[in-house]
Amino acid sequence: MKFTIVYASATGHTEDIAERLDQLLPDSELKELSDLKSIQDIETCEALICCTPTWNTGSDVKRSGTTWDDYVEQIPTLNCSGKPVAIVGLGDSAAFSKFFCDAMEELYTAFKKAGGNLIGQVSGDDYIFDDSKSMIDGMFCGLPIDEDNESEKTQDRLEAWCQTILNETNA
Ligand SMILES: Cc1cc2nc3c(=O)[nH]c(=O)nc-3n(C[C@H](O)[C@H](O)[C@H](O)COP(=O)(O)O)c2cc1C
Repeated sequence: MKFTIVYASATGHTEDIAERLDQLLPDSELKELSDLKSIQDIETCEALICCTPTWNTGSDVKRSGTTWDDYVEQIPTLNCSGKPVAIVGLGDSAAFSKFFCDAMEELYTAFKKAGGNLIGQVSGDDYIFDDSKSMIDGMFCGLPIDEDNESEKTQDRLEAWCQTILNETNA
């Protein structure tokens, strides 16, 4: 299965993580969200990984602070029926401990409404944080990455998670 990795980034962390995912997956392509001709391009992807930071602390809507905010209301109108969709969130679990990677949930919910098959949920056990809108039924709805405080954990997290989503799509 081919994964299309779509990212938006303000200061480069999310871009770097998207590139590293592209290197780890056997069959993938990398796209910056702002380079898509239209958000409808996403409908043609076989499987999707959406990478977003959180910048708009505490906000209910448009939490990313990137180009994702321009599209998040449109995503539920797409036809992503049955498409595997996985979310990666960049955040800071120390300085923004009550809002850790909040933007992941917004994309998760939008793609779920579009009919996507949301994969790649992650246990919170390996993270120290107070709260996150991205915890759903006791699991993170995607992969949180904290380059500000725990960059030494990132490679292991990425490798384990790639294996998870490959297993989930081969099942
Ligand atoms: C003003 C500001 C607000 C932020 N708000 C949050 C937040 O609410 N939740 C969070 O987890 N991280 C927050 N962060 C941390 C960023 O999401 C984090 O540094 C991320 O890696 C940035 O990704 P980017 O370089 O791709 O833009 C914030 C950072 C700044 C400077």
